[in-house]
Amino acid sequence: MCGCENKSRFWGFLMTGLLAVSLFLPAVRAEGATAAFEELFEEIGADEITDNVFNLVGKTITVITAGRIGEHNSMAASWGGFGILFDKPATWCFLSASRFTLEKMQAEGSYTFSWFPDEYKEDVLFFGGKSGRDSDKMKESKLTPVATPSGLATYAEARLVIECRLVEVTTVAPDDFRTEESRKFIEDGRKTAPDYHKIALGEIAKVWRKKPR
Ligand SMILES: Cc1cc2nc3c(=O)[nH]c(=O)nc-3n(C[C@H](O)[C@H](O)[C@H](O)COP(=O)(O)O)c2cc1C
Repeated sequence: MCGCENKSRFWGFLMTGLLAVSLFLPAVRAEGATAAFEELFEEIGADEITDNVFNLVGKTITVITAGRIGEHNSMAASWGGFGILFDKPATWCFLSASRFTLEKMQAEGSYTFSWFPDEYKEDVLFFGGKSGRDSDKMKESKLTPVATPSGLATYAEARLVIECRLVEVTTVAPDDFRTEESRKFIEDGRKTAPDYHKIALGEIAKVWRKKPR
């Protein structure tokens, strides 16, 4: 057998090996991420959330994350809440039409809400400082992304995670607002966004809390 045949066989093996590894690795990584998630979090029912909603949403900051893990984008949010919609536990949030996270929520149809212990306040605020549309904010974040079993993104440092299925996105109309303060907010918001604010309604698909250590 001549040397060139050996060489081409070597390159053939190498290329097949590389192809196999490149196909296999993402699956291993995804499985690893899910395993990590299940080690960190335990599933609970929406009715087992013990936080007072006015403290959870009003005093701590919600991180909304949309997009499959690896392509995800997170923002800080303070306006939103919980309730029952179409007989199911649901969430709502009030978002400027300019949010990149909103764009990803609409593209993916699902997203997560995450809440963190106070020690991560700076990391959480970081998501509210600039848009992921025109910055490397997701690469700069020090938090550890982890995939939920359905492949959405949250963070290993979170203490409570809610996965939502997007039910409806409404664009608000300034004339519908009855107080001067709210109407002004809506009109002002439109000046820096492509549209009026949006209200996103989501059905709660899953709730997880951090496992006790
Ligand atoms: C504490 C805090 C709360 C915020 N709450 C909201 C909110 O409820 N709705 C909203 O549209 N933007 C809110 N923002 C602004 C967004 O987080 C911010 O514009 C972010 O850069 C958007 O990122 P994105 O374009 O990558 O989605 C908040 C920012 C901070 C710091």
